[in-house]
Amino acid sequence: MTQIGWYGLGSMGLAMANNLQRHLAGKKALSLLYTNRTMARGQPLQSIGGIAVPGFNDLVAHSKIIFTMVSNDMVLQNLVSSALGSGHTLKDKIFVDCSTVHPDTVSSAAAALKDQNAAFVSAPVFGGNPIAVDGKLVFAIGGPKSATEVVKPLIQDVMGRRVIECGEDPTKSSLLKIAGNIVTVNMMEAVGEAQVFAEKTGLGTGPMEELIGEAFGPVAGGYSKRLTTGAYAPPLDSRPGFGVSLAIKDAKHAMDMAQEFGVNLPGLELARGNMEAARDYAGECLDSSSMYGTLRQQSGLEFWNEKSRKEL
Ligand SMILES: NC(=O)c1ccc[n+]([C@@H]2O[C@H](COP(=O)([O-])OP(=O)(O)OC[C@H]3O[C@@H](n4cnc5c(N)ncnc54)[C@H](OP(=O)(O)O)[C@@H]3O)[C@@H](O)[C@H]2O)c1
Repeated sequence: MTQIGWYGLGSMGLAMANNLQRHLAGKKALSLLYTNRTMARGQPLQSIGGIAVPGFNDLVAHSKIIFTMVSNDMVLQNLVSSALGSGHTLKDKIFVDCSTVHPDTVSSAAAALKDQNAAFVSAPVFGGNPIAVDGKLVFAIGGPKSATEVVKPLIQDVMGRRVIECGEDPTKSSLLKIAGNIVTVNMMEAVGEAQVFAEKTGLGTGPMEELIGEAFGPVAGGYSKRLTTGAYAPPLDSRPGFGVSLAIKDAKHAMDMAQEFGVNLPGLELARGNMEAARDYAGECLDSSSMYGTLRQQSGLEFWNEKSRKEL
């Protein structure tokens, strides 16, 4: 039986790992090994049979397939360097990263692991925490076929509803994720603008939300709910659904690549500026949809609405 390991139990990672562990338990397979910087986050996973190990190198030593779901490129680079320097053999292991990182990060991780006869699969995801909880994420997958064929049954109908194949080059799935986030961030900006317009003109955010959900689909409707429920600025002791700094990172990756390839992304640039202004004003504990707070301020309203937190 194949031992599988999981690193990263944030807003997305915990929900995904829970679904994977339930699947493994249903198949009477070996329980998922897990670890995380903040070990207490693993309690729900432990309660359904996940087994905690102390650190990433222990996870790598004991697992054949190692999933990672972390905030950004630097965290992933540190994990890969740690595995490479651990002294454990990495031969025939498969590293599967589900985070959103730059294709250059994927490329260097894949090359360094290949030197040690290990495979790297890039499998970033589309969809937020509630979709991760339901096991209905969309995955993009890229990497050596021998590795992706092993990994896909752990994703399809376990953590995801659809796996988009991007071929043997793992940078392509990472590129698709970066490209997809151009749409995500622009859509959040558009929904935020429409909701400020609805409030200021007296139309009201309720009918606007109904229209957004009906006419523009559940994803846009979900973004509207993040505003009207106040989730764009959650309580200071909570973890945002999709942290604003993660979305700023994603926008920066897209803009860096756009510059490299001579592409103009004016909408994304505007939205990134509004997210940065939100973070400058209200700090880190904000959702990616918090450009709404900036848009509110630009239209003479308070950053906060009646359902959001109201403190800096
Ligand atoms: N949230 C979404 O809606 C969404 C959707 C699609 C893709 N993504 C992408 O998926 C990835 C994870 O997102 P998320 O929302 O789950 O993020 P998150 O809630 O911030 O969790 C990040 C994870 O990375 C770990 N981490 C952060 N800094 C670390 C460090 N310096 N050393 C070691 N571990 C560290 C965190 O550990 P702790 O638990 O100890 O903090 C946690 O396990 C990101 O790349 C994001 O862009 C997110």
